[in-house]
Amino acid sequence: MINDACAIQQNLRQRANRALPGGVSSNTRLLNPHLIVERARGCRLWDADGNEYLDYLLGQGPNFLGYGPPRVVEKIVAAQGDGIIYAATHRREIEAAERVLGVLPWADQLRFGSSSSEMIQAAMRIARNATGRRNVLRFHGHYHGWFDNIQIRSDGVRALPGSLGQLPEALDPTLTIAWNDPDAFVAALREHADTIAAVVMEPMMLNAGAIVPAPGYLELVREQCARSGIVLIFDETISGFRVALGGAAERFGVTPDLAVYGKAMAAGWPCAALVGRAELFTDVATGALTHAGTFNGNTIATAAVLASLDELEDRSVYRHVEAVGADLMDGLAALLENHGVPLRLQGLPMAFHARFDDNPEPITRFEQLQEIDAQRYGRFAIQLIESGIWVASRGIWYVSAAHNDDDIEDTLKRFDAVLTEMTDA
Ligand SMILES: Cc1ncc(COP(=O)(O)O)c(C=O)c1O
Repeated sequence: MINDACAIQQNLRQRANRALPGGVSSNTRLLNPHLIVERARGCRLWDADGNEYLDYLLGQGPNFLGYGPPRVVEKIVAAQGDGIIYAATHRREIEAAERVLGVLPWADQLRFGSSSSEMIQAAMRIARNATGRRNVLRFHGHYHGWFDNIQIRSDGVRALPGSLGQLPEALDPTLTIAWNDPDAFVAALREHADTIAAVVMEPMMLNAGAIVPAPGYLELVREQCARSGIVLIFDETISGFRVALGGAAERFGVTPDLAVYGKAMAAGWPCAALVGRAELFTDVATGALTHAGTFNGNTIATAAVLASLDELEDRSVYRHVEAVGADLMDGLAALLENHGVPLRLQGLPMAFHARFDDNPEPITRFEQLQEIDAQRYGRFAIQLIESGIWVASRGIWYVSAAHNDDDIEDTLKRFDAVLTEMTDA
């Protein structure tokens, strides 16, 4: 937290504001302007004034193995010595593709890219080509990158362009409905199925709340898409390699036609992938359908995927994160109950959401999130940050393989102190 006691950060913040618009390189970081980070290791990071934080933001999710996992770093440093990008396919790229496909048994092929925003664009292009249709059905509260044709600002009812400078008509081919609502989905398809090329969704809603799909919902979507010849795209940018090795598709037992992965797939190194059924990639393979990118599949990115999978494939990491995350959630919930604070937690141990809400029932829809006091949680998040718990102001908490029992105990002590101060006040 940058205050008078943080002279070094104050000075760096001024310099950041002069050199970088808003002092950041990505607008999502404007929501968390509190620290200038010096370095991070495991599940802890340090600001430029030397204050230490337990990290539950994990760079917005990617650092699933913690910061600087030694075996991963070693392999990436070794790869770097071989050169970064050759304008040709290389051995690590092939191996990384095979290994990713090995943990996603429903898929045949993939293309690598550098960010999920661009992979979503490729997915929509492929779906339009495969179906000869124009429109994309998507959902309130789901985020699929910042490009003109997909970024929305939604109040749960209307979906408007999400940014100044965005062409309003760029959203014309998209139709936005409520997620986790079978009736809304069936009604949308009844009216528009003939025009819809793709349905794109976060199979677990992690960008707004941490809402798991209602029993039967993904199955219904899957079945109806198949029946109507619509390409089903799972955006597993957050859920992939986090909620299970095979992502939400594995955890919830429903497979898409195409899926986008990023974040946890490469343990924090920048790499994304568009994965899917072979026939959808036919025109990509000939070059008739363009997917390109100078840095796609580079040595460092693919070495990171391989090194990450070396850690993840035996699945003990998932058992660890599940156990540690469950202990954290239980511990936080017990403290909240003791202090009589109506902060509700929901989601999965590796990615859960916190909100102030008098209603203790879990929320299942994005509209319900519109009714809660998000500002109150934003203020609470600042108190947590000041106590050395680094969290997102929007309520999401991520747990990594680097968190252990001592870290959870330490977190709970700090959290308890914040609640005591809050309730005393
Ligand atoms: C579900 C989802 N899709 C797409 C994106 C965009 O990913 P990137 O920032 O890698 O472009 C994000 C980013 O947070 C995301 O959460």
